[in-house]
Amino acid sequence: MGLLDNKTGIVTGSGQGIGRAIALSYAQEGAQVIVSDINDDMGEETVRLIEDAGGTAAFVHCDVSDESSVKALVDNTLKHFGKLDIACNSAALSRGSGPIHQYERAVFDQTLEMCLTNTWLCMKYELAAMLEHGGAIVNISSNASLRGQAYNTAYAAAKAGVNVLTQSSAAEYGARGIRINAVSPGVIRTPGLEKYFEEQPEKAEGLKKAAVLNRLGEPGEIADAVSFLCSDRASFITGQVLSVDGGGAVR
Ligand SMILES: NC(=O)c1ccc[n+]([C@@H]2O[C@H](COP(=O)([O-])OP(=O)(O)OC[C@H]3O[C@@H](n4cnc5c(N)ncnc54)[C@H](O)[C@@H]3O)[C@@H](O)[C@H]2O)c1
Repeated sequence: MGLLDNKTGIVTGSGQGIGRAIALSYAQEGAQVIVSDINDDMGEETVRLIEDAGGTAAFVHCDVSDESSVKALVDNTLKHFGKLDIACNSAALSRGSGPIHQYERAVFDQTLEMCLTNTWLCMKYELAAMLEHGGAIVNISSNASLRGQAYNTAYAAAKAGVNVLTQSSAAEYGARGIRINAVSPGVIRTPGLEKYFEEQPEKAEGLKKAAVLNRLGEPGEIADAVSFLCSDRASFITGQVLSVDGGGAVR
């Protein structure tokens, strides 16, 4: 018996990193999974990894910044599996960092759109598909949202928006049997993080020491928390932002 037996789910941005780990965990826990990403090759590879492990998955290309693409993702999920029970909105990008007075407005706008607006957009269509029978959604936030983060203001503010979006929507949809939570990762070893370390080597040492557990987190450790929150074991948990950060938030 898996935590997510008989459920069908979507994971956005599941071509690599945290999203891929969540898709693998959903499948390992018994869910049928729609893997989605803008990178088709990586998304198909996630599907292969799931199938090799004995799970059920299909790939649907989705650019979460394109409303018609998000709508098609949910429509295809319903066509493929007949229903949508669980969803994790993981796709996001941070577009640059630096002091506010040197920041381009366009870069601020893009980060807000990639991290916050697109999460809202995915929720809009996921919620519509869950209205009749209920469901559970987990949004991926970031510990940058909790106390702010110097020189990363657009990303921190956007992820703080994800937290309040999560709380507000949980209040809106609880009576319809839909639970909505967020998981806030600390510093997690992913291709996205490696790229960030390459671009900002001066930040790497500090971030590697962010957790009181004295190590980087692994994508599977985020995925375990997401699968739990999507499962019936979390049936009375909604509107929460759970830090999975090796204690980074209490340092
Ligand atoms: N890695 C960390 O330390 C860390 C910390 C806090 C929060 N997060 C959050 O976790 C999530 C995943 O991060 P990651 O480090 O695994 O990232 P990553 O860059 O390794 O992977 C992101 C995935 O999203 C996909 N993607 C990018 N733009 C997309 C779009 N428009 N539509 C659909 N898919 C798109 C990419 O192709 C890629 O497969 C993000 O929300 C990120 O903000 C990560």
